[in-house]
Amino acid sequence: MRFAARVDHLGGGSVRAWDIHNAGKEALARGENVIVLSVGDPDFATPQAITDTAIKSLKDGDTHYTTVAGRLELRKAIAAHQSRRTGLALHEDHVLIVAGAQNGLFSAAQCLFDPGDEVIVPEPAYLTYEATIGATGAQMVRAAAKRDGSFRPDLEALEAAVTPRTRGIMLANPGNPTGIVMTRAELEGIAAVAVKHDLWVICDEVYAELVFDGAFVSIASLPGMAERTVTVGSLSKSHAMTGWRIGWMIAPEALITHADHLALCAIYGLPGFIQNAAIQAIADMDHVAPLMRDIYRARCGVLCDPLKAANNLKVLYPDSGMFALIDIRGTGLSANDFAWGLFRAEGVSVLDASAFGPAAEGYIRVAFTVSDDALADAAQRILRYARSLSA
Ligand SMILES: Cc1ncc(COP(=O)(O)O)c(C=O)c1O
Repeated sequence: MRFAARVDHLGGGSVRAWDIHNAGKEALARGENVIVLSVGDPDFATPQAITDTAIKSLKDGDTHYTTVAGRLELRKAIAAHQSRRTGLALHEDHVLIVAGAQNGLFSAAQCLFDPGDEVIVPEPAYLTYEATIGATGAQMVRAAAKRDGSFRPDLEALEAAVTPRTRGIMLANPGNPTGIVMTRAELEGIAAVAVKHDLWVICDEVYAELVFDGAFVSIASLPGMAERTVTVGSLSKSHAMTGWRIGWMIAPEALITHADHLALCAIYGLPGFIQNAAIQAIADMDHVAPLMRDIYRARCGVLCDPLKAANNLKVLYPDSGMFALIDIRGTGLSANDFAWGLFRAEGVSVLDASAFGPAAEGYIRVAFTVSDDALADAAQRILRYARSLSA
């Protein structure tokens, strides 16, 4: 039987990147002494008040179809939250409830890009972007980051990537795998390219609540950007709610209408009890998210500080989130060989960061999604393995 040509764009190279993570999870399930640092799934339970709200809603019979665009109270709460962050006067018609940020990225791309279009993505880019763009028939075009080891966006490379086919820019701010939080000046540079070439910007802000220090700027808040920006967010990271599959896209009303139509034929709305839990989560944002952020910041030190003792490793400390990149080029191995060697020798699973783009070749990505004790243990195992390579 024949498949649509589209299926060729859904796999992509990044699918192989998960092999080591799957191997780690399987070893864990067999009871082996492994530490899985290969995925961004918080190890905490979702806060009790949120879970209780969902349970109560279920018991109260909130188990029927809901409004496709999402419950008004939730859309209003998200609009108010984003208005506070951006200074924009947003309301519920700017918001669509989606099944996690990933669904928001997919929905936005489906409504904005056609076959043959190009979408620029600053590298290194989150793993799903290539297929998210590819599923529309458009092509992802990588824009190089600065080659000074900082992975900061290279605005000249970004503009040089623009062609007559370019329709948009998709980026994560804060970034994954880098944890970089873009400065206002960097965002102004990206915005200038978008305005000059009349491009859409899809900005993935799933880590926005987990910025360690300083201000976070939404690109949508910059002049000329509200009408061309889709901001995607979710509760996955800020509230340890990855499995609830709830997030949002915030965009000009006309785009929300199209995405609502897409949602009607794609998912037909999100469960009511999950939306009620999300209303509770947004109400609790100001005390839940800072707790999570402070834990990740502390954990970053627990894992990364001991690695300074290795003369063949270099940590790129993140500005946010739950990951760090480690430059392993000093070991003489490729990141893929380092990751598998570390897993086999010491039972620690990490990702070869080149899956996020060629710029990250020679780096591994570690996640702070296990306890302090496990992170301290993982740091010693990584150190031991790195030292065995320099011996
Ligand atoms: C940059 C980035 N965007 C989106 C997602 C997916 O988020 P969600 O669970 O809200 O779909 C992730 C998850 O790791 C991510 O790192």
